[in-house]
Amino acid sequence: MNLIELNKIKKTYRGRNIESVVFQSLNLTIKKGDFIAFYGRSGSGKSTLLNMIGLVDRPTSGNINLEGNKINALSDDEYAFIRNKYVGFIFQDFKLIEDMTIYENVEVPMLFAKEKLSNIERKTRISKLLKELGLEGKDKAFPDELSGGQKQRVAIARALVNQPKLLLADEPTGNLDKTSADDVMKMITQIHKENETTVVIATHDPQIKDYVNRVIYVDEGSLREEE
Ligand SMILES: Nc1ncnc2c1ncn2[C@@H]1O[C@H](COP(=O)(O)OP(=O)(O)OP(=O)(O)O)[C@@H](O)[C@H]1O
Ligand SMILES: [Mg+2]
Repeated sequence: MNLIELNKIKKTYRGRNIESVVFQSLNLTIKKGDFIAFYGRSGSGKSTLLNMIGLVDRPTSGNINLEGNKINALSDDEYAFIRNKYVGFIFQDFKLIEDMTIYENVEVPMLFAKEKLSNIERKTRISKLLKELGLEGKDKAFPDELSGGQKQRVAIARALVNQPKLLLADEPTGNLDKTSADDVMKMITQIHKENETTVVIATHDPQIKDYVNRVIYVDEGSLREEE
């Protein structure tokens, strides 16, 4: 079954002086359980594509279907609501909130979810995630007390806490040494396998090819998939 279909997507950015056309007419189908890496030169549109798939940004025109439902006509609030439920996002620079503890950072998306869990339910879910990601005992620490690899694992926990169907990562290993990058990719792979989470990663890291099952190149506004 298709999780997301992009049909004839056009995306332009209107800057202060110039308008850039990133995609003119883009088609892409992502199936449930896909594990995809986007490659392409800097400025080719990988992050733009990820943000549209993750409902962070909207196309200029064209259709996006989510589990067969058109979502174009939804309001910004409805869009944000679906994003919170469906999508977990991981970034190169972690984007943790520095004056919150690790526990509080992971809890944030739960507080915005429509389905409200009790304190105990939140605590149980967060403790389990932190343990699975090798962060046991770090719940009361602050982000600046962790290594880069640990911070990225906190970001993974935060991305997973609402149990999303779709996990997106924009250069998740870009700020990590090779060992931490391998650890992060092993954890993402495990999440993909265990929960059949659909995973899409934008990256320059050639190692990530070894983990995914679809490799797609973004180039001059079009996509080319490796056989
Ligand atoms: N907010 C914005 N306003 C104007 N132009 C933008 C904006 N965001 C991206 N662009 C333009 O869109 C194009 C695609 O950018 P994007 O960030 O998607 O590339 P990328 O493939 O992720 O690059 P990188 O590998 O450097 O992260 C670039 O030409 C960029 O200048
Ligand atoms: Mg980018």
